[in-house]
Amino acid sequence: MYILFGKEKVFDTPKPERLLHRIIHIATNPGDLVLDSFAGSGTTGAVAHKVGRRWIMIELGEHCHTHIIPRLKKVIDGEDKGGITQTVNWKGSSGFSYYRLAPSLLEEDKLGNSIINKEYNSEMLAEALCRIEGLTYALSNTFDQQHGYSTERDFIYVTIQNLSYELLSKLSDKVGQ
Ligand SMILES: C[S@@+](CC[C@H](N)C(=O)[O-])C[C@H]1O[C@@H](n2cnc3c(N)ncnc32)[C@H](O)[C@@H]1O
Repeated sequence: MYILFGKEKVFDTPKPERLLHRIIHIATNPGDLVLDSFAGSGTTGAVAHKVGRRWIMIELGEHCHTHIIPRLKKVIDGEDKGGITQTVNWKGSSGFSYYRLAPSLLEEDKLGNSIINKEYNSEMLAEALCRIEGLTYALSNTFDQQHGYSTERDFIYVTIQNLSYELLSKLSDKVGQ
């Protein structure tokens, strides 16, 4: 573990890949999905990857960028020679997707009312509402605004403007029958 991260002691309780290998081998089959919602140094994902399991790791610390992502890139590129690499004859392959979670859409004001989180700009708001309503987020050429669609006939228009009669009429004219 300390070879991978140099001499610097970054994690209090690093687990050897061998231990995770035993657990994953006993508890899962190839192709299964392994979840580590407190990824730490990323050992669970690294081992899961090397033994052909799919994985999801969640981490809120900055070491997600400084340690986990570089570590998994090495695993994928076959450049991680440590841990169980030789035992399982890992040569590298495949890849992963990385997502940054948005903050919660709603927060409470001083009176306990749910209000839109102030961190949300109009684009994030539109994207979030599309997701909640099950529509696909897309920028619209027609409305000069963010909106989404689910079929050719179903659209969502997201705005924090007052919805005046004039605005609704314009939207109605654009959408048509
Ligand atoms: C003890 S480490 C995890 C060790 C790792 N699972 C392993 O097997 O080596 C705990 C990690 O959970 C992260 N963490 C704590 N609270 C979290 C949260 N709410 N969401 C995501 N990660 C969190 C910490 O930043 C820390 O890196």
